[in-house]
Amino acid sequence: MEFTGTLILAPLAGITDTTFRLLCREHGADVTITEMVSAKGLLMQPGRTHRYLRFGEGERPIGAQLFGAVPEEMAEAAAAIGRLGFDFVDINMGCPVRKVTAGGAGAALLSNPRLAGRIAQAAVSSAGIPVTAKIRSGFGTEPDSYLAVAREVFGAGAAAVTLHPRTRGQMFSGRADWGQIARLKREFPGRVVIGNGDVTGPEDARRMLSETGCDAVMVGRAALGNPWIFSAIRQGVAAGGGAPATAGNGPARIARRALILRHGEEMHRRCGEAGIREMRKHLAWYSRGIPGASAFRGDLVRVTTLDEFRLAVERFF
Ligand SMILES: Cc1cc2nc3c(=O)[nH]c(=O)nc-3n(C[C@H](O)[C@H](O)[C@H](O)COP(=O)(O)O)c2cc1C
Repeated sequence: MEFTGTLILAPLAGITDTTFRLLCREHGADVTITEMVSAKGLLMQPGRTHRYLRFGEGERPIGAQLFGAVPEEMAEAAAAIGRLGFDFVDINMGCPVRKVTAGGAGAALLSNPRLAGRIAQAAVSSAGIPVTAKIRSGFGTEPDSYLAVAREVFGAGAAAVTLHPRTRGQMFSGRADWGQIARLKREFPGRVVIGNGDVTGPEDARRMLSETGCDAVMVGRAALGNPWIFSAIRQGVAAGGGAPATAGNGPARIARRALILRHGEEMHRRCGEAGIREMRKHLAWYSRGIPGASAFRGDLVRVTTLDEFRLAVERFF
């Protein structure tokens, strides 16, 4: 995979499902990744886990993200991901949630670079597809462990490392320290480094690429209600970053409404009314910055059927 200037949709648990990934891919994201799934869960309860691993051809190149703390399980799970037809496996080494770190996975691996390396090695040896890792700066008081972890992971044959430069303790507070992305790229100049954290539009993306030298930019929260952000970034970076920094340069109203309708219709086709209930949060995100949004959001609890969804969209957007 060629990474230079690549725009990647971040894995976001409960959000970046197959429908949302396709919309982002159609609007300028070059690469998508599933939300994290448990390596153990994939092996023990494949039926339950597979619903998080459905994808369509239009999403390619697509990676599946695994979390786990046991190299042998990671090897088996990575092989299963390869058999499912994914283009790469991404290993989660940054999730700060206690349920994940208590088992030694996610951000807990930042305190144990050797184990992180063994996990990457296990995945590389069996996946049959490229393996990448997504890390944070450090677990707690050792904010530089990303360098040791990256050394182990690259040494094990990982094709790329994504750095979200916050510690586990920071969760999402403060600002991502892009200086650490620059340092990672300086320490591993020949390797693929993906920058992530606080990119909200074209100017941020341009700055991240130029200030850190990273090969690719990953965008998470700013894509919520704004799958157009990727094409806006592409245009903005090409134009030298002159475009506005936020959703203001989204598409014209009719195209916007059509995409939102399609989003909900596709969710309904795939998941029935559960899909429409899922759409409530997306509608809230799509409505950000539009006059009357808070009243609209208050009414969303009543949107349950496809007809109610369509009516709400036609009225508001
Ligand atoms: C709701 C939510 C869910 C997330 N789920 C995942 C996940 O499953 N795997 C992962 O590696 N990171 C996950 N993240 C972290 C994001 O991928 C990303 O690293 C972080 O949001 C910083 O990027 P941003 O500033 O562009 O949002 C999640 C973040 C949020 C807000």
